[in-house]
Amino acid sequence: MLTPIVVGNWKMNNTIEQARSLVYPMSLKLREIKGVEIVLCPPFPAIMAVSALLQGTDIKLGAQNIHWQEKGAFTGEVAPNMISEYCSYVIIGHSERRANFGETDESVNLKVRAAMEHELTPILCVGETKEEYDSDRTSEVVRRQLNEGLKDISSSKAKDNLVIAYEPIWAIGTGLASSPENANAVLVNHIRPTLEKIFDAETAQSIRIQYGGSVNGANASEFFSQPEIEGALVGGASLKEDDFVAIVQAAAK
Ligand code: 13P
Repeated sequence: MLTPIVVGNWKMNNTIEQARSLVYPMSLKLREIKGVEIVLCPPFPAIMAVSALLQGTDIKLGAQNIHWQEKGAFTGEVAPNMISEYCSYVIIGHSERRANFGETDESVNLKVRAAMEHELTPILCVGETKEEYDSDRTSEVVRRQLNEGLKDISSSKAKDNLVIAYEPIWAIGTGLASSPENANAVLVNHIRPTLEKIFDAETAQSIRIQYGGSVNGANASEFFSQPEIEGALVGGASLKEDDFVAIVQAAAK
């Protein structure tokens, strides 16, 4: 069995000071929990401050986005090599970036490849809209996002070095989580078989697949009791100490 991975995506929340106030007490509780990989993804300005507070713990850091180039005339962007000193992970292709900032499967692919070249493990997000869900197009959408987003990546690069987050867009920030059975079925029927086709069975088995979308302290254990769900990508609840600690505890059981 793979170690479950719980990732807190803070999105555009918390100043540096607010980040410190949240992380310090939370980390004292999180560091006691064993058997779960814990990753916090603050906004860029807070990464260094949070990193300092996490010294001596196993809690890791991730970024919420990167550009695929190492430097240049890309105003407002952050390069992978600028964060790899602090971060082990990077969220790529979050639906909010696809919907609001013009990210395409093609740019997502460039970012996944750049992350891997800089020793950052990509957390590639896939998931369908409400309309696509209602018209039974989940399979088509997640297969396309995986096939395009993981183009030209070798099995050796992906093995043990890739996380997939299944985040149905209709469940993000709505309080209407997918049913755990539905999420598990998408992983079993569409995501894992697509990874097997892109790579091979052994590599596909080494890739952890998370669920994301309205996960909280109360519903987390139902998700983790599903056989294929190996973690959670948590938004709103990662900003609340008790909720996030409860989610990590549920993953540890
Ligand atoms: P919520 O947990 O707030 O629904 O957000 C999920 C998400 O988008 C995490 O990346």
